[in-house]
Amino acid sequence: MTATTLAGAEAGLTQGPGAARSPQAIFAAARDREGSLSQLLMTFISTGLLFMVFPGTFLGVWNLLQISGRESVASVSGTWIEAHGHAQIFGWVGTFILGIGFYSIPKLRGGAASYFRAAWICWVMWTVGVALRWLANVYMWAWRALLPVSALLELIAFVIFFLQVAQHRPGRGTKSRFEPWIVVVASASVGLLLTLLTNLAGCVYVAIRGVSPAFPHVFDQRYLALAAWGFLVPFVWGFSAKWMTVFLGLRPFRPRVLLAAVALNLCGIVLTVAGYTAAGACFFPVSTSLAVVALRMFEPAVNPAKVRGVHPSFPWFVRMAYGWLLVAASLGWAAVRWDSSGGIWGASRHALTVGFVAVMILSVGQRILPAFAGMRLLWSSRLMFAGLGLLTLGCTLRVCCEVIAYQGYGSWAWSVLPVSALSELGGLTLFAVNILGTFILEPSHAHKESVVFAMPAKLS
Ligand code: HEM
Repeated sequence: MTATTLAGAEAGLTQGPGAARSPQAIFAAARDREGSLSQLLMTFISTGLLFMVFPGTFLGVWNLLQISGRESVASVSGTWIEAHGHAQIFGWVGTFILGIGFYSIPKLRGGAASYFRAAWICWVMWTVGVALRWLANVYMWAWRALLPVSALLELIAFVIFFLQVAQHRPGRGTKSRFEPWIVVVASASVGLLLTLLTNLAGCVYVAIRGVSPAFPHVFDQRYLALAAWGFLVPFVWGFSAKWMTVFLGLRPFRPRVLLAAVALNLCGIVLTVAGYTAAGACFFPVSTSLAVVALRMFEPAVNPAKVRGVHPSFPWFVRMAYGWLLVAASLGWAAVRWDSSGGIWGASRHALTVGFVAVMILSVGQRILPAFAGMRLLWSSRLMFAGLGLLTLGCTLRVCCEVIAYQGYGSWAWSVLPVSALSELGGLTLFAVNILGTFILEPSHAHKESVVFAMPAKLS
């Protein structure tokens, strides 16, 4: 109930017949609405977990086992690699973002019914779109038709989401809608929109001209740079600015430095997408360092971290995720100079997607999702630690050994890569089990909660 504002409840629930209602009726309706929002969130999150484990991680592990066995990345079909990447970025991370967005920023101007209708239509279109892409890539059945259809479904689903949340206005007493963290999240949303448009263009192109569903290599590399630095990274920066000060007990972030980081990051993306990869890669270590300074990620905390209900290592893993982002940016810079096999690029991308994004989702997700899902408690904080530990171990082995093996610096590293894959698979599976355990086995305490009026209260 805590994310529900009374203003929002009244706005949404006093429209239509019988507008004058007792406070009890308003609170009861707000509770129902909060229950429906939690159901919606849990559906999005469970869908994201499904994409993460099966089409995403299992296929990634399978690909890596084949690559390691044959000691060559070229031995695996590009369409399978792209099927894995798409399922992870859009099926897992994208579905989580849509679900959390719909849950956190409910706008009931058109009425609760139309809001939920839009959200469910978005869920169906997004899920079908991502699933069709995976099936087309893996089974190559009717792929010339399915690819553009899937990309169009994803784009329309995102536009539905965007139109709903774009109507959001801050409640009375809150600051300007152009708070710096909102600007950063808005820039990430534009990045996601551009990524989806590029995806649609790529799908239409290969449907007409391609010999397989795989994007041409150069196009794919630029598209991945847009997805990683234009969408994933600024999303995490924006939400870090919103939440990490409280969660980690840090001093307030430096807004101007963060906006400078976003501007430099944008320069890097524009150069990379325009084909000036070497120049673009120089911007990311600088923008990433600025973001770390802006968010005070490695400065000492001034207040106790909010670790109630989660494992006490939570702040440590969040900081480590930013360490991985620095590694990813530095490896990208090194790849321009020394990569001869795709190994340094691959390690850079993995440090970003797994070290930064996945470690952050496992940390923050287990902190916030139980509360969002009807004020539940996390099923197991030990499982949280075990999952994060395995993921970190796997990511460390993968990033180091991908460079060593692919570049031919040491053939022993090929035999470590399968271990890294299984370790990461274990970490991500424990995360999925812990979240589903929370949704299914932990009781909801929403009915005991009185209406509280702001998100941070829920998260404290
Ligand atoms: C168990 C965990 C994972 C394993 C074993 C794995 C494995 C792989 C492998 C073998 C490749 C092929 C390229 C290369 O050799 O580097 C790859 C590419 C990729 N992975 Fe993963 N991965 C995992 C997790 C993730 C996660 C969590 C994400 C995103 C959140 C992700 C996103 C991608 C992307 C975007 C690509 C590039 C696809 C393309 O070329 O279009 N992976 N992964």
